[in-house]
Amino acid sequence: MTIIKVKKESKDFYKPDQSSDVQDENQLLKNSLNYLKAELNKFKEMPLLVSEVKKVIGNKVIIKVPNGSHFLVNVAGNLEVCTGDLVLVEQRSLTVVQKLENSNSFDVEDFVIIDKPNVSWDEVGGLDDKIREIKEVIELPLLKPEIFVQLGIDPPKGVLLYGPPGTGKTMLAKAVATSAKCTFIELVGSELVQKFIGEGAKLVRDLFKLAREKAPSIVFIDEIDAIAAERLDLGTSGEREVQRTFMQLLTEIDGFNSLDNVKIIAATNRFDILDPAVLRPGRFDRLIDIDFPDENARFKILKIHSSKMNLSDVSFEQINKDIEGFSGADIKALCTEAGYFAIRNDRNYVVHEDFINAVSKLNNMSKEDTNYVEMFG
Ligand SMILES: Nc1ncnc2c1ncn2[C@@H]1O[C@H](COP(=O)(O)OP(=O)(O)OP(=O)(O)O)[C@@H](O)[C@H]1O
Ligand SMILES: [Mg+2]
Repeated sequence: MTIIKVKKESKDFYKPDQSSDVQDENQLLKNSLNYLKAELNKFKEMPLLVSEVKKVIGNKVIIKVPNGSHFLVNVAGNLEVCTGDLVLVEQRSLTVVQKLENSNSFDVEDFVIIDKPNVSWDEVGGLDDKIREIKEVIELPLLKPEIFVQLGIDPPKGVLLYGPPGTGKTMLAKAVATSAKCTFIELVGSELVQKFIGEGAKLVRDLFKLAREKAPSIVFIDEIDAIAAERLDLGTSGEREVQRTFMQLLTEIDGFNSLDNVKIIAATNRFDILDPAVLRPGRFDRLIDIDFPDENARFKILKIHSSKMNLSDVSFEQINKDIEGFSGADIKALCTEAGYFAIRNDRNYVVHEDFINAVSKLNNMSKEDTNYVEMFG
């Protein structure tokens, strides 16, 4: 008897639960059916074309579809579009159905660095002659254009800084921008090539437009060799693209007046591969060679980079003799390295020997570098 009772009880107990299981499963299947249906619909949906609005005419617009053709089309609903917007259009009637957020998708301001660098002339060691020359060519025309008008001479539109790596070219450009107190627009040549495939020429155009709007301004093109290298054979489309970007750059430089309050500074450590076209008078007609620092300059750079270090009995005159051929960047690395030797010896001050150790470490490193070059060519 007892057993039956238990059985009955347990049956009653499980009954509602079982049906809820079935309901749950049913719901699950329904959900997945809906999901799959929705997925299937996605495959059936006609793709929308991405186009650019060229002109608004009353309640219609002229769009440019990706193949380059222009069409006069309607705009759906009360969508508001304006020239330059990126929109989605329906394929058959080309009616504009949606505006893409972030429309002015290609806004040059997002891609270049516009800032006020913070490098003072005091931080640049040696290079006094070069600093004077840059000031004359870039800063003076921006600050006092009337002098040039009175004299009746055209200041150069820009300068090209060239020389081995780590000698302070980028630094000089930043120092000029800091002291001239003008907009500084920086563009790195190699990035231009990598990131803006197909858009390089447009970017250059927009860049100079921006520079004019924000004048007085300095356009700084670092690593210009990436776009202005001389090419013998334009085999790949990538190279043709770079060439187009380069031609646009030349056009822009030709197009503005030297008193337009826009100056260009370009920098390269591969002067040998530059296309002679950039060096033609009227473009970068002022070339400034930034070479390895001489003894005097090295001493100054050592002082600059060690100015914040806690030193004890360090004779820079002596160290300076051992670092011939070091660039400014090498000297900066030397100071950091010397600091590390002090850390390893549990000191909170840097002694002469730390610098000696650092010199031999850096010398060994550069030797390894050359071995590597010899090995792999
Ligand atoms: N004349 C200098 N005075 C003080 N510091 C220098 C000098 N030259 C180089 N340096 C140091 O080396 C660093 C690198 O220099 P910079 O970036 O200007 O080199 P670069 O000439 O542009 O090299 P690259 O051709 O490789 O771009 C600077 O941030 C600075 O700390
Ligand atoms: Mg540089």
